[in-house]
Formats: sequence, C-alpha cells, structure tokens
Amino acid sequence: MKSTQATESNLLPLVPAYDSILELAPYQTGKPVEELTREYGIADVVKLASNENPMGCSPHVTLAVTEQLGQLARYPDGNGYYLKQALADFNEVDVKQITLGNGSNDLLDILARSFAGTDDAIVYSQYAFIIYPMLAKMQGATGIEVPAHRFGHDLKAMTQAVQDNPNTKMVFIANPNNPTGTQLEHKALREFVASVPRAVLVVLDEAYIEYSPESNNRALLDEFDNVVIVRTFSKAYGLAGLRIGYALSSVAVAELLNRIRQPFNVSRIGLAAAAAALADQDFIEKTRQMNDEQMRWLEKQFDALGLGFIKSHANFIMVEVEVEMEDTTAAVIYQALLEQGVIVRPLTAYGLPNWLRITVGVAEDNLRLIDTLQSILTED
Ligand SMILES: Cc1ncc(COP(=O)(O)O)c(C=O)c1O
Repeated sequence: MKSTQATESNLLPLVPAYDSILELAPYQTGKPVEELTREYGIADVVKLASNENPMGCSPHVTLAVTEQLGQLARYPDGNGYYLKQALADFNEVDVKQITLGNGSNDLLDILARSFAGTDDAIVYSQYAFIIYPMLAKMQGATGIEVPAHRFGHDLKAMTQAVQDNPNTKMVFIANPNNPTGTQLEHKALREFVASVPRAVLVVLDEAYIEYSPESNNRALLDEFDNVVIVRTFSKAYGLAGLRIGYALSSVAVAELLNRIRQPFNVSRIGLAAAAAALADQDFIEKTRQMNDEQMRWLEKQFDALGLGFIKSHANFIMVEVEVEMEDTTAAVIYQALLEQGVIVRPLTAYGLPNWLRITVGVAEDNLRLIDTLQSILTED
C-alpha cells in the first residue's frame, strides 16, 4: 500500500513504490580520508573504518590495470569471460554457476530483487550486516530480525523464524559476520540449510572468508540448490575502490540473477584487476598473516586498557568503550578519535551504542590507534 502521509510531510507529490522506502536511512559509509582532511585539516589520517586491506592490493594488479587504460572507450566484456573462468577454476564450480557484481553489495541487491517481493519475508540476524534489513525495505518485503545469541547468529532461532513465517523467501547469513566478527560452525550451518524448505534461498555472505578460510562453506553448493555464496574483492584482495564481487550458486539461480543484473555491471578495469588479484594467492597469505599478528596485538592492548571485545574471525574487531566517565559513550570516543585523525566505525545504527568497530591496520596504524585511544580514555 502506498502512503500519502509521509510524502505530504516531505511536501513531495511523488510517492515511492513502497512505504518502507520512506523508513530507510541512507547507508552510512566509513568517513573517507579526504573528507576528514578537508573538515579538520589533518593530513596524517589513519582509516580503520571500512575493513579495507591496509596493505593495498597485489602488485600484479597495477600491470593488469595499466594494460586496460588504452581500451577505456570500449565496453567491458559483459559476461566477464576470463574472470569467470578463473573463478570457476579457483572455486571448483562450473562457469555457469557464477554471477559477477559491482561489489558484493550489487549481488545482495540483485538477489533481493530477484527473489523478494511485497508479500515475502526476508530473515536475518540481529547485529548482522545492516544491508540485509535495508534490502527488505527497498523491496517492500517484510524483514524478520532474529535476536542474536552472544552477538552471533542463532541458527536454531532462525530455523524457527522461517517455520513461523511461511512467506519467507530468503535468509541472509554473514559468515564471518560484520560487525561482530563471529563465525559459524560448518555442522550448525549445514543443519540450518537442511532445516529450511528448498524454496527458501539461503544467502551466505562470505565477504571476509579469506581471513577465516576454515569457515568456507563452498561444499554446501554441491548439496543444496538453494544456497548462494557471495564473495568480494573489496576486503582481503584490496580492490574496494574498483567495486567487484561474485556469487556462486546453482546454474538455475545464476540464470535468474543474470536477467536482473545490469549488462555491464563490472568495469573493464575491475574485471582485469580481479583476475590478477585472484592469481596472487601469496598476497592473500601475507595479508592473512599480518592480520592475525596484528589482531593478537590489538587484543592484548584492549585487555590492557580494560576494554571488552568480541573475538573476531575477520579483519576488524568490535570493542566496547562504555567507560565510567560521564557522557563518555562510543560516539564521544569516535568523535575524539576523529579529531585526532583516526577514523573508526560507530555502531549506533546496529543498536550497539557502546561499541566501536575497528579495522585491523598495519602495525603503525594500530599503534597510533592505541596511543590515541589511551590518551582519550585517561584524559581528565
Ligand atoms: C558482510 C559484508 N557483505 C558485503 C559487503 C559489501 O562489500 P562490497 O560491496 O564492497 O563487496 C560488506 C562490506 O562492508 C560486508 O561487510
């Protein structure tokens, strides 16, 4: 049903397709470095807010990108032939099981548009990636948020939610999850997939899988036609600025997604860069090692500062900064860090006002974060 009430209050004669669109707030991205420099005049900014790779990307990407520069007047290959071939080999799937996206967000959006309409429900967990409830609202579908268990997905309760809502068309699960960094056991996840009707699409969002390779659930694709795995080149591969991701699914699902996808949704440079990045698994190994070492170091520092945190399986960590000082909430600390050139992520939009999500940086960035945090927390 369309509402005139909300649009009248905005003095707009135009009415969006669904009322729920009026409830949406634009997605809050991590503050860009350039913006902080502009606003506060700080040249030396450390960004630990968007789970990007602080080591950049594979050096092979530069050459691949350079090779494309003479071809920018030409459309990219709309089918991404070479990248799909490489991804098929890497993931041991058929090329027909792959859909490419302009970042993995594009794929999450294509999935929601392909499967969820106004009469349908989408199930996701409390504290799961905020795009999932947003997609439900964008589609005019019912979003069903299942309370988290110890900050992670409560799969039993999610099964129950699917059973209680026969109009459920999709379930979104992030593994590891953003922003909590929690990870699911294979067995529990398999049991969950087996427990839902075959007509319910289970989307496993593995944006951070390179940091937690043991939680890769690729094997579920061979067993269940209703499973989709979504991955990205934005995180460990270090190509966030190029926007490229992919989905692995049954051939039937991929054929549907390809009808919805924009014809040239991945750029020429993105295709070439992703193929070069995928081929350099040594870089991924180095990234993982650095992340593991620095994660352990950060955990020790948070312990020393008396700050609680959730054990994370990704390249970020959720830290509790509710301290016994009047008015000192995470928002205050976020702002104080910002003013000293350190960008992290507040989690108020997730209903976690006392927590910050901090991306693991290289040693120098993390040292700066901890020094700055310590000086803020010990200020009179
Ligand atoms: C769990 C999860 N999924 C998907 C994305 C989307 O990333 P991209 O569109 O850059 O691939 C993110 C980005 O933060 C994420 O955390």
